[in-house]
Amino acid sequence: MTLKVTAKAAELRAQGVDVVSFGAGEPDFDTPAHIKEAAKKALDAGATKYTAVEGTPQLRKAAALWLGKAHGFEVNPKEVMVSAGAKQSLFNAFHVLLDEGDEIIIPAPYWVSYAEIAKLAGAKPVPVWSRPEDDFIVNPAAVARAITPRTRIILVVSPSNPTGAVYDEKTLRALADLAVKHDIWLLTDDIYRSLCYGDARFVQPATFSPEVRKHTIIVDGVSKTFAMTGWRIGFCVAPLPVIEGMSTLQGQSTTNAAAVSQAAAVAALEGSTDELERMRLEFDKRRQFMVKTLRAMPGVKLVEPRGAFYAFPDLNAFVGRRTPAGKVIDGDPALCEYFIEEAKVAVVPGSAFYAPGYVRLSYATSQANIEKGLTRIGEALAKLK
Ligand SMILES: Cc1ncc(COP(=O)(O)O)c(C=O)c1O
Repeated sequence: MTLKVTAKAAELRAQGVDVVSFGAGEPDFDTPAHIKEAAKKALDAGATKYTAVEGTPQLRKAAALWLGKAHGFEVNPKEVMVSAGAKQSLFNAFHVLLDEGDEIIIPAPYWVSYAEIAKLAGAKPVPVWSRPEDDFIVNPAAVARAITPRTRIILVVSPSNPTGAVYDEKTLRALADLAVKHDIWLLTDDIYRSLCYGDARFVQPATFSPEVRKHTIIVDGVSKTFAMTGWRIGFCVAPLPVIEGMSTLQGQSTTNAAAVSQAAAVAALEGSTDELERMRLEFDKRRQFMVKTLRAMPGVKLVEPRGAFYAFPDLNAFVGRRTPAGKVIDGDPALCEYFIEEAKVAVVPGSAFYAPGYVRLSYATSQANIEKGLTRIGEALAKLK
């Protein structure tokens, strides 16, 4: 569905139509200059060869220090495995931890890749629904009810794609207790960790106790934080036997992440954070504008996103209405098609995240685009009768 909308937007743009896209899953900012410079130097210094499968010693050490500093505990570089993006880290971890028929609990609405990767590993994704009235934070009691003898992983993604929910400490403690009690993994996807706004604070469950830490697998990376999506660098912090399994798997798939990208990632992790803060503040400004504007549209319901760079409004009030051409809007995919045709605005249907009647708007686009796109969406919604 996402691809259909994106393809339609691209087709219109190729025809010279002025399309506003809210589809982006990546920062619109460029990678900070000092990181690109470090990569150019690294190429000249020979970062053109294979590296160790688990990553260069420099990057594993830099990642261990960076994560240790962020979370306040020591990370052994040997417990860090570097991959081609957080997505490959998730792929490795799921394949190593999940056997045929095992179950992974995924708070929904969720990013589609979790379920698809779990299925590739032969496992069964078990969605547990979070409610808008709970700010899209999953209820630990519902997670507890979903645990079976086949459950191997409870997944947590905070801040969340697509909802922007940032998990509070109390909920995380309850989820961590479940993982310890049932002796299963708590796998945290921290890829949006540095993008929290207002009074929202990121909490890493492994900080709760050594026991929780033993049950936690952390996935993190540079993609969203440092505007480095195309460099493809992610990492996973896990106990040594899990690292060994992931290394065996990756050794037979992609081998190592690109050497030059690993060198760039070292510069990112060791360099100044001024640029990051500038990007975060800019995202926050856009977020506030988007929240205010969407909430002012009659019929639109929106839980305030507190992290990442997405707004996830509920447009169910418009399902069942008719377009000016007389077509019935029978769901969010039809609504997205209508937005493209009528308003020349691309948004991602909520059904892509198992949330019918919702749409996802990324604010990783300029303030001018946001203003123009939201005005068009407001006008298009007002025409539905
Ligand atoms: C929740 C979530 N996790 C992981 C990723 C993948 O990150 P990477 O680009 O580092 O593979 C994404 C990218 O969209 C994401 O939204």
